[in-house]
Amino acid sequence: MAGGGLTAGIGAYFWDVANDLPLDMTRPRAERLSQLIPSLRALLEGESFGGANLANAAAAVHSASGWHWVGFYLVDFEQDNLVLGPFQGPVACTRLFRGKGVCAAAWEQNRTQVVPDVHAFPGHVACSSASLSEVVLPVRNSHGEVVAVWDIDSAEADDFTPDDVAALEGLTSVISSMWDSWTWAG
Ligand code: SME
Repeated sequence: MAGGGLTAGIGAYFWDVANDLPLDMTRPRAERLSQLIPSLRALLEGESFGGANLANAAAAVHSASGWHWVGFYLVDFEQDNLVLGPFQGPVACTRLFRGKGVCAAAWEQNRTQVVPDVHAFPGHVACSSASLSEVVLPVRNSHGEVVAVWDIDSAEADDFTPDDVAALEGLTSVISSMWDSWTWAG
């Protein structure tokens, strides 16, 4: 039946992505994310288009975690705001502005933001009402300047453990270390 085939297809896709990476899906989430750090480096090596690499990074973490929304906002230096980049999850706000929300805080403070309850964060930008907790990590170029942020939202409150955040910092470091060698023209 067509409906069953579609469902099976989506399920296969979800697991195939994880299975293509050497991830043990029976291990706890933070451990899977840590396992992903060397795999992500290997996955991104050899491709210079930043858009492709950010897309695969978002897909890898989304598959390994099951978090609601995993994606990037890029610093638009001309407009002095953040613009939506590659992501996995529901459609999201395309522009984020200084002084408003968790992503802007990570960008402006050049510091990871862990938000156990998004409703308690002043100015939180609710792109999806299903997001209840959030972590945003700055991606830096070789000068330490923030060039993007990696935003990860959970549909569960207080869903980011210190081990999750440590693993996500490691994954973000992989991207930061490669950033200067990437191009954006395709
Ligand atoms: N919640 C973010 C906005 C981006 S969406 O969550 C994808 C913020 O407050 O900056």
